[in-house]
Amino acid sequence: MATIVLDPAARVGEIHRRVFGSFVEHMGRAVYGGIYEPGHPTADENGFRGDVLALARELGVTTVRYPGGNFVSSYRWEDGVGPVEDRPRRLDLAWRSLETNAVGTNEFMRWCASAGVEPMMAVNIGTRGTEAAVDLLEYCNHPGGTALSDLRRSHGVEKPHDVRLWCLGNEMDGPWQIGQMTADQYGRAALDMARAMRRVDPTLELVAVGSSGRAMPTFGTWERTVLGHTYEEVDLISAHAYYEEKDGDLASFLASGADMDAFIDGVVAAADEVGAAKGASKRIDISFDEWNVWYLQNTMDADVSGFPVAPPLAEDDYTLADAVVVGDLLVTLLRHADRVKAACLAQLVNVIAPIRTETGGRAWRQSTFHPFALTARHAQPLVLRTEVDGPRHETAAHGEVATIDAVATWDEARAVTVIAVNRDVANPQPLRVELGALGKAASATATVLAGDDPHTVNTADDERVAPRDLPVTLDGDAAEITLPPVSWAMIRVELA
Ligand code: AHR
Repeated sequence: MATIVLDPAARVGEIHRRVFGSFVEHMGRAVYGGIYEPGHPTADENGFRGDVLALARELGVTTVRYPGGNFVSSYRWEDGVGPVEDRPRRLDLAWRSLETNAVGTNEFMRWCASAGVEPMMAVNIGTRGTEAAVDLLEYCNHPGGTALSDLRRSHGVEKPHDVRLWCLGNEMDGPWQIGQMTADQYGRAALDMARAMRRVDPTLELVAVGSSGRAMPTFGTWERTVLGHTYEEVDLISAHAYYEEKDGDLASFLASGADMDAFIDGVVAAADEVGAAKGASKRIDISFDEWNVWYLQNTMDADVSGFPVAPPLAEDDYTLADAVVVGDLLVTLLRHADRVKAACLAQLVNVIAPIRTETGGRAWRQSTFHPFALTARHAQPLVLRTEVDGPRHETAAHGEVATIDAVATWDEARAVTVIAVNRDVANPQPLRVELGALGKAASATATVLAGDDPHTVNTADDERVAPRDLPVTLDGDAAEITLPPVSWAMIRVELA
């Protein structure tokens, strides 16, 4: 039997609630037909879909990144403010779509207020730069009495949006990015932008662009070079990762968290190396502001000839196995709570998303909705170091990995929540969680996502991948469960 022995002294750190962030990009049907659909039976007076808002709240997202993604690297924010009838229609070069600009900054802020989430804004450093970024900041955050703050007020938004968190561009290391840069070019441009933005407001939280993936040829040197320029002026560096089941290798796919673990360790090492060389007392944390399962080839195969408006791009149907991996990636992010201070499940609705909609019709929860929602709701504030003493197995893509991956979270006064994943494709795995000096258990419940077929998906008619109760036994100060093969589970123990 695999065992976890918890120790109240082995604290990793507090979970920053921004780790339960998501992402809404002007891509496919994320905005149009996703969060926004005037005329939809559930739409409110702003044109926001009420069913999507309700699901976003149920999902428990805290922070939403906007407006891209690749989209932001050729976006003119001015197109998206002011009277809607005057807004230009433009070619979106990132997704080869037609952007109507019916939704822009103020609409997004209104949506955030309705959803109860914090906005995380990204600025265009691809085709634009410091001037446009500072202008947008003035438009959003300055109270009034200047050209751009008064422009906002003339657009009916009296109070500033007070956006705290800003991404200085997106994936500038990638050849697919409009305005791709070398690390040195980006580092200099981001330094300039950060300094200017801090002149407007020194208390902003700024995210420098990190690597678009661990497999990028520049990974590591990119972070060192970019932070070499920007260390003093930024707070976080981004990381992005997408995983998929390739060539039917379910075992490797289920162990994707091992890759994310190594990615985070690599970014931390690079950032700390720069900090050490500079003799800095400040530390740079990680904004993992795009992560998910993504079957990228489906997106590549999509027909975007003729620049359609809101084509159905990247509408992946997520399986039970995908949900287990999403749950495990979240375990990985929580395990690094001391350094991962923001993260965005990319994306929120329709585009590689936990929420799907029919235009004009229903909205439903994909399989991946559940591990995210349950973790966001039930994770306790403190992460404890969680060593699983249990079986390990070989995978083709990631070498030897732990068969059970887990993280324990703790509320000193009340409860322990352990999230565990069984990466075994065929066998159930028993797991014992010993509370040790945390105290005695008063009661325990467990929830599981599992099923006979790991490739089961949810549809609007049948949300068949859904959590169900899992038997848990209490034995003194230990809880025991058996994890079915290919499963994600959560054990909640109330302390006596
Ligand atoms: O989330 C979809 C896309 O993935 C984003 O636009 C981009 O940043 C990443 O490559």
